Amino acid sequence: MLIRILGAAAGGGFPQWNCNGRNSAAVRAGKPGFRARTQCSLALSANGSDWVLLNASPDLRQQINETPALGARADGPLRNSPIAAVVLTGADVDFIAGLLNLRELQPFSIYGADRVLATLSANSIFNVLNPDVVVRRSFQFGVPTSIEGAGRDTGLVVEAFPVPGKIALYLESGASSNNYGSRDGDTIGLKISAPATGKHFFFVPGCAVVDAELASRLKGAPLVFFDGTLYTDDEMIKQGLMQKTGQRMGHMSISGPEGSIAAFEPLGVARKVYVHINNSNPVLDDNSPERRATEAAGWEVGYDGMEIRL
Ligand code: MLT
Ligand code: MN
Repeated sequence: MLIRILGAAAGGGFPQWNCNGRNSAAVRAGKPGFRARTQCSLALSANGSDWVLLNASPDLRQQINETPALGARADGPLRNSPIAAVVLTGADVDFIAGLLNLRELQPFSIYGADRVLATLSANSIFNVLNPDVVVRRSFQFGVPTSIEGAGRDTGLVVEAFPVPGKIALYLESGASSNNYGSRDGDTIGLKISAPATGKHFFFVPGCAVVDAELASRLKGAPLVFFDGTLYTDDEMIKQGLMQKTGQRMGHMSISGPEGSIAAFEPLGVARKVYVHINNSNPVLDDNSPERRATEAAGWEVGYDGMEIRL
C-alpha cells in the first residue's frame, strides 16, 4: 500500500490567506526552515492504479495537479479519474469542501458517518456530485468495509470508529455542557487495511483526548497519522491570533502531560506522523526547539508529498 500526504496543514492551510502571524509571515517570506502546506488529506493506493482519498480538502484541485498519479490517465477515455472513493472523518470545512472539485459527472464513492452524510444532504451545493454516479455510503462503526467505487474494488478496507472530539464549527449549537451539540461519530478515526498484504495503519486527524478505548485500539500499531493541530493548548491566544484553546476546538495538543506525545508514550506505535498542523504550531519551524523535542520523542512532522509504503 502506498500512502501519500496530499496536505498536512489544518484548516486554513499554511500560510493561511489572511494570517500575518509569525509562522505564516515566515513561510510567505521564504524564510529557511519553513515550508508551505496545504490542508489535510491523504491519498492511498493498494494496486498503484486505483486511489482512495481520506478527506477532501479545499486544496484538492491543487493537490491533484501536484500528484500525477491522481490526474486523468493519458491512456484512458476522454473523461477518467483514478480516484475511486473519498472517505470522510468529519464534516469540517477542511474535510469536505474539496468534494466540490470532484464534479463533472465522474463516478466515485463517498464514505462517511450518517451525520456527516446528512450534512452533505442538507447542503444542496453538494448535489453537483450527481447522485446518479456519485454514491454515498454510510459507515457502520467497527465493521470493516471494502472500499469500492466507480465499479472498482480498491483492495483497501476501512473500519471507522468514533473518537473524542467535536462537531464541525459551523454546525455548533448549545453550550459547552453538551460539547456544542456534538454526538458520537462527529469525529472519527479510520483503520485502513490492505488484505492482500495484511498491512494496516490508522488515520486520526482530529482528537480531543486519547481515552482508554482509543489507546487500546492504537497499541502496537505499525503507523498512525495523528492530530497535530497545536503544540500547546493556548498558543493561538498567546500569539494573538484567536481567543480559542485547542480543547475548545476539540483538539488535544502535542506537548504537556495531557498531550499526544505523552499519551502515545506507552503505546508502542512503530511510526507516528503529525498531520492537520495549524499555522500557529511551532513545529512548522524546522529549527525550533519544539520541533526538536517532537522528533526526539519519536514523532515525524508530516509534509505535503511525504510518501510511506507499507
Ligand atoms: C478544526 O479542525 O477544528 C476545524 O477545521 C476548525 C474550523 O473549521 O475552523
Ligand atoms: Mn480542521
